[in-house]
Amino acid sequence: MQEIINKLEQKRAAALSGGGKSRIDAQHAKGKLTARERLDVLFDEGSFEEWDMFVEHDCNDFGMAEDKIPGDGVVIGNGTVNGRLVFAFSQDFTVFGGSLSAAHARKICKVMDQAMKVGAPLIGLNDSGGARIQEGVASLAGYADVFQRNVLASGVIPQISVIMGPCAGGAVYSPAMTDFILMVKDSSYMFVTGPEVVKTVTHEDITMEGLGGAVTHTTTSSVADLAYENDVEALLSLRDFVDFMPANNREKPPTRTTADPPERCEPSLDSLVPANPNKPYDIKELILKILDEEDFFELQPDFAKNIVIGLGRMEGSTVGVVANQPRVLAGCLDIDSSRKAARFVRYCDCFNIPILTFVDVPGFLPGTKQEYGGIIKHGAKLLYAYAEATVPKVTVITRKAYGGAYDVMASKHLRGDINYAWPSAEIAVMGPKGAVEIIFRQDRDDAQMIEKRTEEYREKFANPFVAGSLGFIDDVIMPRDTRSRLCRDLRMLRNKRLENPWKKHGNIPL
Ligand code: HXC
Repeated sequence: MQEIINKLEQKRAAALSGGGKSRIDAQHAKGKLTARERLDVLFDEGSFEEWDMFVEHDCNDFGMAEDKIPGDGVVIGNGTVNGRLVFAFSQDFTVFGGSLSAAHARKICKVMDQAMKVGAPLIGLNDSGGARIQEGVASLAGYADVFQRNVLASGVIPQISVIMGPCAGGAVYSPAMTDFILMVKDSSYMFVTGPEVVKTVTHEDITMEGLGGAVTHTTTSSVADLAYENDVEALLSLRDFVDFMPANNREKPPTRTTADPPERCEPSLDSLVPANPNKPYDIKELILKILDEEDFFELQPDFAKNIVIGLGRMEGSTVGVVANQPRVLAGCLDIDSSRKAARFVRYCDCFNIPILTFVDVPGFLPGTKQEYGGIIKHGAKLLYAYAEATVPKVTVITRKAYGGAYDVMASKHLRGDINYAWPSAEIAVMGPKGAVEIIFRQDRDDAQMIEKRTEEYREKFANPFVAGSLGFIDDVIMPRDTRSRLCRDLRMLRNKRLENPWKKHGNIPL
């Protein structure tokens, strides 16, 4: 018995020391934490229970039979994050470069299966050289087993990936199928083929960071949602992020007590929208002022800045926020902003998170770049996402709601539950000037006449009354009362039930 205990202790010590001191030092020298150090930051102190610490690979080729490290390069288990159950795997770059063997893949699958059975979020901390080269197709099979589980878990439990080291080749597709990707600047990268292959094929000279670093993926490709300076910053932020998420698709979003009164009045919002309809203002000011404690967890802040998305709370309960940003491209919808918001709307809908939409949109961005890039299909994604969403939807038109974009942005016609306008709202097919230039084309050389017609059009449509008279707007509210009205509505909608017709799945324009 003692002998077995001693052997277990030896194996435990071997597992805990990973790839050994020199490799751990090398990891630290790169500014990276080890797999277990990361879990220590992520989970509540002492709450993480590790499984499969003694699992070893079963490869006998290329001298691997003698080279076994207990745990085989990935730490799996569960613990609590701010008191709530979360499952995780954390790849250990110090053990065979965190590469994925069949045994390593089985461990990841095990923790995914358990998270699904229990119904709790799964977090993957990725730091891996990819497929374990010595194992060949067994490793590729392992990846596919993980991919399959990612897809089955999608929309059932929240899945979040943090990229904290290399992530290349087909390995990128597991994170790509999770709900959110967080990256660490200068120490993580994601690409399908690395800089050397790129050089050979396209003759482009590019660094790893430039090709697939955190900045690239959060500003240019939008593959990732957030970029952080280092491991600790990313993991601490992830703890806050997890707080907003329901455990699974059958639960309501989590609530927490707040001292912020729901009836809080914000007189400063009455002057947020400038008198000149062409002057920009910052929609984030509105978002911050209406959410509990000004706490807004913004996602993709550096990509498609003409739309703002993120999570917050109203009366302690999680809400998703989608808002046109008049400061960038006048808040118009384009390919990038449509894709960005569509995926977020679908995330909220999967996980029963009510959606607040703030509208100030002059329409879709014109031009060949947009048309050739498929704005029709990409804009349709957002339309589709809002139309299929059955969660509570409350919309506030702060200023412009023109054309198709009016319909798209959670309008009454797409089953918006409560649709408000501020007195500054302008709801029309297009802006007054453009409209007059089309319908009074014969007067286009008569500046005075055009001016008169524009004023007429503005009188008629640059206000919320026509939409209000048709019942498309439930009420015109003073900006200062926005928080209290939205809090009441969300309370009223808490037990909303709405089901779409049965189908295997819809065919969203991908
Ligand atoms: C086995 C690997 C490995 C791998 C790294 N190691 N990648 N072992 N399989 N894929 C080992 C190294 O041998 C080394 O072992 C240790 O991990 C650290 O690697 P270094 O090269 O010393 O580290 P670094 O200089 O930081 O470079 C990291 C790296 C590089 C850029 C990731 O290791 C690399 O290019 N690895 C190969 C990447 C790759 O081609 N993977 C397969 C991709 S295809 P020692 O014992 O010296 O510490 C793929 C397909 C997935 O993944 C398909 C899914 C469908």
